[in-house]
Amino acid sequence: MFITIEGIDGAGLSTQSGLLNEYLLKKGKKTLLTKEPTNSLIGGLVKAALKKEWSTNNIALQTLLVADRAHHLASEIEPVLKKNVIVICDRYILSSIAYGSLDIPLQHLKQLNSIFRKPDITILLDAHPKIALERIKTSRYSVELFETEQHLTQVRKNYLSLKNFFSNTYVIDANNPADQVFKDILKAVEKKIY
Ligand SMILES: Nc1ncnc2c1ncn2[C@@H]1O[C@H](COP(=O)(O)OP(=O)(O)OP(=O)(O)O)[C@@H](O)[C@H]1O
Ligand SMILES: [Mg+2]
Repeated sequence: MFITIEGIDGAGLSTQSGLLNEYLLKKGKKTLLTKEPTNSLIGGLVKAALKKEWSTNNIALQTLLVADRAHHLASEIEPVLKKNVIVICDRYILSSIAYGSLDIPLQHLKQLNSIFRKPDITILLDAHPKIALERIKTSRYSVELFETEQHLTQVRKNYLSLKNFFSNTYVIDANNPADQVFKDILKAVEKKIY
């Protein structure tokens, strides 16, 4: 079972990924909690570009994200899925497409990502950009590329327009307190996790 958590920055992706992981561990499941961009060399290049430590163009950034994903799947995700581990991935293909399609044609991004495993469950955390930005400002030292209200408003729209891209996608209201958001996630997906 491959579960991905998606949504704009500050929607609470890492918080909810962690809560879901704890919940499943308590139920005696084996899990892998992981994240994209990854901590590999390729993921490091992506993260450094997002923090403006170096600059490249968007097509190079998307290509790096795809390379990072290919490596992530092959080296970490696929091997454990074979052992019936539940994988929770904090950001996946929808994030690349929702952010990337600000600058790159949607069809091209979809094609770049078409070879990858589809998630069994996608949890799309939908938060208002104002609320998400407030959370980012109080939790982080730096605000990254794309993190203005105007950008996040467009990215949020992009995510919502992708809600039928993968089957079993659940849009969850992420403006509520974290424990309520988690209850809503469980209500949507609990019966589907085995
Ligand atoms: N539902 C919530 N209500 C209020 N605060 C929240 C909620 N969810 C997360 N937070 C807080 O907001 C901050 C950002 O949360 P989190 O790191 O989970 O977001 P994220 O979507 O993973 O963001 P990032 O873009 O940084 O990866 C943290 O300080 C977290 O404790
Ligand atoms: Mg996060």
